[in-house]
Amino acid sequence: MSKQFKDMLRRILGSIKARAVSSSYDVVGDIAIVRILEPEALCENDYEVIAGIILDSNPRVKTVLRQYSPVGSLFRVRCLTYMAGEERTVTIHKEYGCRYKVDLSKVFFSPRLSYERVRVARSTREGEYIVNMFSGVGCFSIAIARLGKPKAVYSIDISRDAYMLMKENVYMNDVSYTVIPILGDARQTIESRLRGVADRVLEPLPDLAYAYLDVALEALKPEGGWIHYYNFIHLKSMGLDYEVDRVKRRVEKMGWRVIYTRARRVRSVGPNWMQIVVDLYVSRNMDGQELNTG
Ligand SMILES: C[S@@+](CC[C@H](N)C(=O)[O-])C[C@H]1O[C@@H](n2cnc3c(N)ncnc32)[C@H](O)[C@@H]1O
Repeated sequence: MSKQFKDMLRRILGSIKARAVSSSYDVVGDIAIVRILEPEALCENDYEVIAGIILDSNPRVKTVLRQYSPVGSLFRVRCLTYMAGEERTVTIHKEYGCRYKVDLSKVFFSPRLSYERVRVARSTREGEYIVNMFSGVGCFSIAIARLGKPKAVYSIDISRDAYMLMKENVYMNDVSYTVIPILGDARQTIESRLRGVADRVLEPLPDLAYAYLDVALEALKPEGGWIHYYNFIHLKSMGLDYEVDRVKRRVEKMGWRVIYTRARRVRSVGPNWMQIVVDLYVSRNMDGQELNTG
């Protein structure tokens, strides 16, 4: 899709203006979001052309929005402007048999995390207790509940908008018995009511994952478990191995033993910037214990 889109932009707008537009766009439900890299290079007519290209080549897209800045603030909400089609920001996105209602003007959502959600969901084991510290509208939690067989998924978010949509999504996906939406700060929630409960903890918020590693560990059962840690790295200055070592050192400093690590690049988030995940299996116990690295 991205090469075709870029070719069309070049043909219709010329190569200078085409460079002002990101070479691919996201489709969330029936809404397309195109990133504008250099707004000063474009005029209103150009936006109509860009939206026309997207609408013509994607019959399922009903709305086109443009995004200027990278995703900002702790709520990770995109800054969006209406471009064409139906004027709305609410849609239902479907992936791997799950449905997520999102309001793109109020909450974070990225279709580029879909493989990551299913990867984590498939790595869970029957009967696990899971804490999702930064749930958004509940995508990881719902995918885990539908594709795995956890006992419970405590699903925390500090944003009221995300929490309300998460509650709707939990109901819509028929996982009310397994996913427990919680409105609040992940640190306070774990410290007050989720200490030592989890077999697996998710930290899908790069801005806070490192700072909240201590509470992620506190949420784990004393015998240990899995942490899925997400961050952004600059490929030229740090690299994946550097981040794995940094996280391992911090975990070990807090009195835990890192038994196993596995890291992967999740998605590109800018020139030389990558979102990565580090999966860590950790234990307080120095004696050998059964480890399932599947
Ligand atoms: C990157 S988004 C979540 C992505 C989500 N896991 C998904 O796949 O769609 C991060 C979320 O963390 C929430 N958040 C930010 N600070 C928080 C905190 N201190 N405690 C709990 N949630 C927080 C934001 O409201 C936002 O919804």
